[in-house]
Amino acid sequence: MKLDSLIPAPLRKPARPGENGSAKGPAPADLKTAPPERPSDAKRLGDKAKDAPVSALAWVDQRTAASGFLTGLLYRKVPKGTNWFYTLGSATLFAFIAQATTGVFLAMFYTPSTTQAYASIAHINNDVFLGSFVHGMHKWGSSVMVILIFLHMGRTFFFGAYKYPRELNWVIGVVLLILTMTMAFTGYLLPFDQRSFWASVVGININGTGPVIGPYLSDFLRAGPELGATTLSRFYAIHMLLLPGAIIALIGAHLYLVVKLGTTAPPWVHAEKPKVAAPVAQLEAGVGGNGTAPGNGASAST
Ligand code: HEM
Repeated sequence: MKLDSLIPAPLRKPARPGENGSAKGPAPADLKTAPPERPSDAKRLGDKAKDAPVSALAWVDQRTAASGFLTGLLYRKVPKGTNWFYTLGSATLFAFIAQATTGVFLAMFYTPSTTQAYASIAHINNDVFLGSFVHGMHKWGSSVMVILIFLHMGRTFFFGAYKYPRELNWVIGVVLLILTMTMAFTGYLLPFDQRSFWASVVGININGTGPVIGPYLSDFLRAGPELGATTLSRFYAIHMLLLPGAIIALIGAHLYLVVKLGTTAPPWVHAEKPKVAAPVAQLEAGVGGNGTAPGNGASAST
């Protein structure tokens, strides 16, 4: 316990400037001059509250060094000639995020059972607040994602972005394409109406015609001799758990490589020749640094 607190206030020795919370600075010239005003507790609390988000971010950043990674990600250099075609990858990513978000809300009301699936979708469309909107977004969004992923693949192909050193990113992309198509295929059965039932029968049979693994694949998908309750449960688990997890992990790897390797320049943009001084021997021979005689533009090589 501090000794000061035992002494009655009027008898205590006055604190020196800067001590015990008293204001620092010169003492008042005479006793009539009021000491500088200290901010009230409420104001100090308000200031602290304003700084809270920044302080929280700084706290996280000190422990993760995430700002370095984010700065590298957001301020990375992109090649000259980058155009709208380069946004197709991000557009695909956006479509995936929209699918994941709307899918979570649909899962809150959907029942993966052969007797209740159709009715639960009807309930979403007819009774649930914004249900038909969210269902519509998910249904049309699946087509949008498939279209975008093909366009993005076309862009990377025609710009030669599959070549060294980006082959692995191309391979990851191919797996992402297969997973996205499987996502669309497994999702199609879930409403369990006539169309989705028979379309899935056709799709599973087409898989069965594939070489070597085809019959095993169709057996695995059907999960029994006929398309039925076990098929629906299997499609639901693949659609809801397996594929989204795998896609998220692979998108992470895909984007890591995009940032690590940088983006490919469009094929019509060529690297500029480095502007280096011509070697002394060439200068003495009267030949320019780019291998041409100065002035006449003709090639100096023989
Ligand atoms: C879920 C699917 C996918 C997402 C979210 C995605 C996302 C992205 C993003 C954001 C980029 C960087 C920006 C851009 O170049 O557009 C990128 C680049 C790339 N993607 Fe994808 N992508 C997906 C599927 C694919 C597929 C199917 C392929 C090919 C089979 C592919 C191959 C590539 C390659 C090679 C690059 C590097 C491009 C370059 O260096 O110019 N991606 N991807």
